[in-house]
Amino acid sequence: MNEIKHIAIIMDGNGRWAELQGKKRVKGHEAGAKVVKKITKFCSRDKDIERLTLYAFSTENWKRPRLEVEFLMKLLEKYLRSELQDYLNNNVRFEPIGDIRAFSNSLQKTIKEIEIKTAHCDGLVQSLALNYGAQDEILRAVNGLKNAEGDITQEMFSNALDCKSDVDLLIRTGGDHRLSNFLLWQAAYAELFFSDTLWPDFTSDELAKIIKDFTTIERRFGGLK
Ligand code: IPE
Ligand code: IPE
Ligand code: MG
Repeated sequence: MNEIKHIAIIMDGNGRWAELQGKKRVKGHEAGAKVVKKITKFCSRDKDIERLTLYAFSTENWKRPRLEVEFLMKLLEKYLRSELQDYLNNNVRFEPIGDIRAFSNSLQKTIKEIEIKTAHCDGLVQSLALNYGAQDEILRAVNGLKNAEGDITQEMFSNALDCKSDVDLLIRTGGDHRLSNFLLWQAAYAELFFSDTLWPDFTSDELAKIIKDFTTIERRFGGLK
């Protein structure tokens, strides 16, 4: 049976979910935030899962209409504040990845505050990718290593990234089959699952089914079995 330590999810399809119901796109983001809560709780109950990395806002998402971006920023702040008690109750440590310096001071403060207040939790790590792009992450790592002495090793490079652990299972909801600049280094040997379900409709049952399928796959990592 495959070990499942690190699950990463591209939570896509919020806008389409709302539009299908004749609602504004932002309603889809609100519904999506509720699913983040449920899926995090589900993963926190599974002792094998150590890390859940969720793609919440990409470095490319700034291209969206100003009002949608502003809504997402407010929603993130609201989500983090309202989730603090849940993080603590479920022993979940919150850890952001991405370049949060692009956010308002107030949002940066909230992000850091939740990170500090959950730092002692030693159950699941819920890592939210915020203003995250793998290419940006790789460039920041390279720049951070510029003055390193000698050759840069794979381990040194990996440790210079925001997300330092390899992904076992990568899921994308919403029907598209692409990575959209998510965890390009860490997903080198991830098992990829694509679901047509729009993120607000994604359930713990569907995740449980994907995990079950994942455990039966033969992972060879280039070797032979
Ligand atoms: C994903 O849902 C959430 C974010 C990118 C913030 P989308 O907003 O991309 O929803 P669709 O893909 O347009 O339906
Ligand atoms: C990927 O979804 C980013 C997040 C889920 C945060 P997008 O909707 O931004 O990706 P593209 O534009 O369809 O590739
Ligand atoms: Mg999308």
